[in-house]
Amino acid sequence: MKILLLPGDGIGPEIMAEAEKLLAALDLPVTLDHALVGGAAYAATGYPLPAETLEKAKAADAILFGAVGDPRFDTVERHLRPEQAILGLRAELGLFANLRPARLFSGLEDSSALRPEVASAIDLLIVRELNGDVYFGEKGMRTTDSGEKQGYDIMAYSESEVRRIAHVAFKAAQGRRGRLCSVDKANVLETSQLWRDVVTDVARDYPDVTLSHMYVDNAAMQLVRNPGQFDVIVTGNLFGDILSDQASMCVGSIGLLASASLSAGTQGLYEPIHGSAPDIAGQGIANPLAMILSLAMLLRHSGGDEANAARIEAAVAQVLADGCRGADLGGTMGTAALGDAVVAALN
Ligand code: IPM
Ligand code: MG
Repeated sequence: MKILLLPGDGIGPEIMAEAEKLLAALDLPVTLDHALVGGAAYAATGYPLPAETLEKAKAADAILFGAVGDPRFDTVERHLRPEQAILGLRAELGLFANLRPARLFSGLEDSSALRPEVASAIDLLIVRELNGDVYFGEKGMRTTDSGEKQGYDIMAYSESEVRRIAHVAFKAAQGRRGRLCSVDKANVLETSQLWRDVVTDVARDYPDVTLSHMYVDNAAMQLVRNPGQFDVIVTGNLFGDILSDQASMCVGSIGLLASASLSAGTQGLYEPIHGSAPDIAGQGIANPLAMILSLAMLLRHSGGDEANAARIEAAVAQVLADGCRGADLGGTMGTAALGDAVVAALN
């Protein structure tokens, strides 16, 4: 398996180093390559997603991605901002299915923003559509008739886009507890009405899955009121972005949530859901566990190596159960120490 490592910006390189440490410890038959991405690539080449990086990404079986985002470049033209690198990779590689699992690790009951008995029940998977919605619709700045400046971003979904993500979500639900909740805003948005109609239609292929629908505002509320009710959630790009950050604090820290972005084939990009965290970059205090859990997802989905994926996840669970905590969870362990603890727990 050819794996491309894209550390990116902020804490990206620090947490990537811990994933590499783990890869070395596992001693797998993989070849590794590195490339620049995000603000780091922009600073070096003038582009957040240089052609060389994109070529390497296309040729890779799997991509392990750190984070992009650098406040130094927040004011450059939008198409040159660091974030365009991840959006470009998602679009260019057709990575339309984003899986964001969230469950409460034993020992973290008191770290959740929720009461322990509410948090303990969390074991859910957010399936976020990643190639459409307001993220990729026409956007721009224009002047209204009254001479006022107006920003706009078109929200749109086509039937085939909804259908393919719905199939991914129903299949995921079949492999879990058989319940799928589709989240939309069909009481207001036409995009959501189509979404709801198509998901309902696809449900006929999956009689063993129980489908429900929920408006996104209610879903945000239910996620903190009673998150244990959710098994698989399927939703659009924007709602999925927001709800997955919310889910992360429900399980204790955004430094714990991994994700897989999958195409129709076996290629995938794997990244923590958190960003580049420029405020703590370079201090060696970032939590590497979401990055490490992303590596586990890579081995599972692109490598077909369930055994080592489960081994990494068990090691992370062990480390947390043993009380290892970084600053995000009120502890004092640094990035490298946490990475070492996971390597030690592998065996
Ligand atoms: C995420 C991030 C990205 C997104 C940003 C960095 C463009 O927030 O992966 O959740 O909005 O999708
Ligand atoms: Mg996000």
